[in-house]
Amino acid sequence: MALPEGFIEELKIRNRIEDVISTHVTLKRAGSNMVGLCPFHSEKSPSFTVFPATRGFYCFGCGAGGDVITFVMKAENLDYMDAVAYLAKRAGIEMPEDDFQKKQDSGVKKSRILAMNRDAARFYHSMLSKPEGAAGLSYLRSRGLSDAVIRRFGLGFAPDEFTLRSPLFLNHMHGLGYTDKELVGGFLCSASQKNGRLYPIFRNRVMFPVIDTQGEVIAFGGRVMDDSKPKYLNSSDTPAFKKSRSLFALNFARSHCAERMILCEGYMDVIAIHAAGIPTAVATLGTAMTQDQAHIMARYTKEVVIAYDMDSAGRTAAEKAIRLLDAVGVQTKILVLDGAKDPDEYIRKKGADAFRLRLEGSENQFDYRCNAVIAQHNLEDFNDRLACIAEITALLGTMHSDVEREVYIGRLSEKLGVSRESLKNDIQRSKKKKEILQKKEETKRMYEVTAGIGDRINPDKMKYRSAAAAEETILGILLLYPERIAVSVAQNHLTEEDFVTAFNQRVFTYLQQCIKEHSRFDMGYLGEAFSEAEIGCITKMMVERASLTENGDTVLSDAVQRLRAEAGKVKRNAENATIEDIDEIMRRKRASLT
Ligand code: UTP
Ligand code: MN
Repeated sequence: MALPEGFIEELKIRNRIEDVISTHVTLKRAGSNMVGLCPFHSEKSPSFTVFPATRGFYCFGCGAGGDVITFVMKAENLDYMDAVAYLAKRAGIEMPEDDFQKKQDSGVKKSRILAMNRDAARFYHSMLSKPEGAAGLSYLRSRGLSDAVIRRFGLGFAPDEFTLRSPLFLNHMHGLGYTDKELVGGFLCSASQKNGRLYPIFRNRVMFPVIDTQGEVIAFGGRVMDDSKPKYLNSSDTPAFKKSRSLFALNFARSHCAERMILCEGYMDVIAIHAAGIPTAVATLGTAMTQDQAHIMARYTKEVVIAYDMDSAGRTAAEKAIRLLDAVGVQTKILVLDGAKDPDEYIRKKGADAFRLRLEGSENQFDYRCNAVIAQHNLEDFNDRLACIAEITALLGTMHSDVEREVYIGRLSEKLGVSRESLKNDIQRSKKKKEILQKKEETKRMYEVTAGIGDRINPDKMKYRSAAAAEETILGILLLYPERIAVSVAQNHLTEEDFVTAFNQRVFTYLQQCIKEHSRFDMGYLGEAFSEAEIGCITKMMVERASLTENGDTVLSDAVQRLRAEAGKVKRNAENATIEDIDEIMRRKRASLT
């Protein structure tokens, strides 16, 4: 790991795991631990456990576990470094800059790329007022953009270097001191396969800078001005840009969108909506919406109005966005635009006021989905109607609010020609079915995590039941009270030789090593040496002893005595086995001689 020693330690001290987790999960005390409903799978009874002493968590339902960093990675959908940065920010600690920024393969620093992008954006924008960029300016104007909007979004034009007498962009960037390697690393230039010469990636395109919430230019989108392909070219990921985690115009939308955000497909849609006086639109960048983007949106807004294109691709993409946003607790509505393929076209045809009216009337996702289901069926046909009702009741069964469901039942019973009562009964049945299925899944997972795997991970356990049980008691207590390890171990003269089963021996050895190295034990350390399933088994050892608060020392020394007695038996058996083996060999030998 590139982070300096001690940094993670400070991070964990300043971000107590129980504090971080309790912003996501309602935790209740259970002895020295805390329990709650797992945020990573759906469950009815709490199997999610937090261990403040060892700064770890573990879910007995789904096997998710680790330290505070792992938790943030899972809960916020971040990679390791970003989770660290998140916690650093939460605690007001400065991130160690260099190591964090010089990751990624191109070897070009993030800060350098950001500076380069800013200079490139300035260059592209300045082109609009030069003869070389006249075509770009008239294209943007032809799309109905005012000079003020062009300036606000920092739009620009990338000249066609191939037809120019001198390479404008390259000369400009070289003049500012950017090297070829940096220009390539920042996805502004590429080297020709043929002669290795450098050329700009964006040529003869109007340019849309992508600006993050810190106000940094992190990427570009460039549009052709005719029908050639590709219509839009977007920056690839660089050390400064992760496409799956960026949203176009979030820099403008972020401070206006607490109540509602509009999600569009394209750059032009966003700009048209902003230009119409609605500063809450954002867009994904040439890809379908990702889970990361859903998490980001959830941080900024309560409700997302999906304003995708009115074609079948747009509808599929909308379904996906609804699912992702649902999962992070964001309300969704669908914007239906009649007589135009996208928001940009709608606003241009019918005006900003008409668009605003549409927005107020945007359907919520249940309307949208119900209408989609109904549209797929022929309600005149008896069987088709039954199929339709079955789909609708399943859909209503997933609704969280009873009040809302009541409203829908009323509306749909009329539409489908069935009584409220029978619709209600069907929904109830479909809900029950789903619950039973869920419960079954939960039990199965629970069983897998806690029982079966245990034997697979420690195969010796089958052979040496009592020894393994004693070992687990010992390890459980040591893990629970790591600060007492040294004392307890010394008092009992416990060494790794005492352990009979290989897995438990490994755990003990590792535990001792941690204490030696860090003079403390932390659940997070387990991740370096054990798999997730193994960590599950280890955690289980400790949880089963969690109620031991009083006579831990006695229980521990008893368990050591028991283990030694068992080990003695095992050893005698092994010796006997060796003698028997020799007898057997001699017998065979004699047999082969005669
Ligand atoms: P559309 O093809 O719907 O374009 O692509 P649009 O937004 O209506 O663009 P205009 O109005 O013709 O200028 C929607 C979005 O998909 C991405 C872009 O982000 C675009 O805004 N896209 C599209 C690409 O990344 N590459 C492409 O070649 C096409
Ligand atoms: Mn369009």
